[in-house]
Order: sequence, then structure tokens, then C-alpha cells
Amino acid sequence: MNVILLGPPGVGKGTQGALLAEGSSWKHMATGDILRANRREGTPLGQEARKHMDAGELVPDELIVAMVKDALASLPPDQGVIFDGFPRTVPQAQALDGVLADLGRKVDRVVVLEADEDVLVKRIAGRLNCPGCGSVFNVHNNTPAVEGICDNCGSDLVHRPDDRPETVRNRLEVYREQTEPLIRFYEGRGGVLVRIRGEGSVEEGQRGIRKLLEQEASSGPPPTGASEGLGTRA
Ligand code: AP5
Repeated sequence: MNVILLGPPGVGKGTQGALLAEGSSWKHMATGDILRANRREGTPLGQEARKHMDAGELVPDELIVAMVKDALASLPPDQGVIFDGFPRTVPQAQALDGVLADLGRKVDRVVVLEADEDVLVKRIAGRLNCPGCGSVFNVHNNTPAVEGICDNCGSDLVHRPDDRPETVRNRLEVYREQTEPLIRFYEGRGGVLVRIRGEGSVEEGQRGIRKLLEQEASSGPPPTGASEGLGTRA
């Protein structure tokens, strides 16, 4: 089963995607994380991506599509994928259809996470990232055991460069203009798209997403531990 998590910055795609992948054989493929790893390693892709990311703009489609194609090619053919932050434009979605078709796969589910903008802005302002292992914390509700230090690898936690307020405003605008049209793109596909509110707790969101996926999953690895969901609208 191939699932897309779609939604604005800070809505919880990364948090929910990582939890879904835990205890299942799904691959959590987060394009933002792959780009940040390339930046840390100083690859040509990372150097090119840096200027777009720090301005809150999208990295050019052709770079992203090539990156995802490579990542997919390295997976076993039957491994389910949770796409987090990809696709983000209609051309990326069209390219994904082609890449998946070549591999005998398709998009099975698109889960749109939604939340009011004040919630997104507060979450992003409170986010702390670990440059060592990629773990994510939050000063409001997911604090590390020792202030400023990653629980998992001991590195100093940092704010992402693109989490500055002026950049966040641009990221939200870019989402509305370039990524939101994907909702209509997938709405035309007979029930593949579902929406879920992301304002509740992490645990509530996870239960809701798992329930939606279990209801619809007809193939692929079922996630573990689902029990109940949040209110959703198809
Ligand atoms: P990316 O890293 O994908 O950023 P994003 O989509 O803007 O999303 P975020 O990572 O900000 O938020 P999230 O929804 O994952 O929320 P999170 O779980 O962290 O992309 C960054 C940049 O890379 C882009 O701007 C672009 O330049 C480039 N890029 C990436 N993909 C691209 C593509 N396909 N095409 C072109 N360019 C691309 O949660 C946020 C915070 O809230 C955390 O602190 C978390 O702990 C907390 N939190 C989460 N859920 C809850 C909850 N339910 N309650 C309370 N707190 C919560």
C-alpha cells in the first residue's frame, strides 16, 4: 500500500509518518528529511536545495522527482511507502504516477491533514530538531528530558533555518498556491483521498489515520495498534 500524507507545514506529517512506520514494514519517505540529510553531507543536491529551502520555496520539481525515483528504486518491489511532503505540486504528482506505474505500483491513499493556521504557526515556532539523528521535539508538548539536548543521540537541538516566522509565512503561502491544488487532483480518483483534522493530540491523530488506512487497506502491510479514530470527512 502506498500512502501520501498531504498537508501544510507543521500539521504533523513527519510526526504521524514516523509513528505509522513504527511496527510496520512501511518505508517512511520524507523528502524534507532526505534534503536535510543531503545538506548535512554537502552533496550537490543539498547545496542546490539549501537556497530554496531557506527561502521557504520549493526545490525544483526535476530534482525532487529524480531523488524520489532513486529512493523508490532501492526498495523491494512489494514494500509499502508512506510519502511525507511529496508530491507537492501537480507535476510531481503526475511524475509519481508514472514512476509508480513503471514499478507496478499506484497511489492507494491520500490522507490530508488539516489544522488552523494559528495551530501550525505555534507548533512550528516551538519545534526543536536534532541535527544528529533527525528526531523532532517541541517546547510545548514534546520536550526533551534535558533542555536543548536530544534524548536519542545527545546532540544539541536546533531550530530549523526555515522555521523563522517570515519564512514560515512564505511556506504557508507556497502550500496554498502550489500544493493545495493536489487535493482536487486526487479528489477526482474515486475515494482515494480522505481528510482528517490534525489539531488533536499526536495519539488521537495517529489513531484516526490508522483507522482510515485499515478501513481502506486491501493489500500491503497493515499498521499495528489501530483502535479508534477522529472525526473525518471524505
Ligand atoms: P518539509 O520538511 O517537508 O517541511 P513541511 O512540509 O513544511 O512540513 P514540516 O516539516 O514543517 O511539518 P510537518 O507537517 O512534518 O510537522 P511535524 O510532524 O514536524 O520540507 C521542508 C522544505 O524542503 C520545503 O519548504 C521545500 O523547500 C523542501 N521540500 C521538501 N519536499 C519537497 C518537495 N516534494 N518538493 C519541493 N520542495 C520540497 O510537526 C511540527 C511540530 O509540531 C513538531 O514540533 C511536532 O512535535 C509538533 N506536533 C506534531 N503533531 C502534533 C500534535 N498533534 N499536537 C501537538 N504538537 C504536534
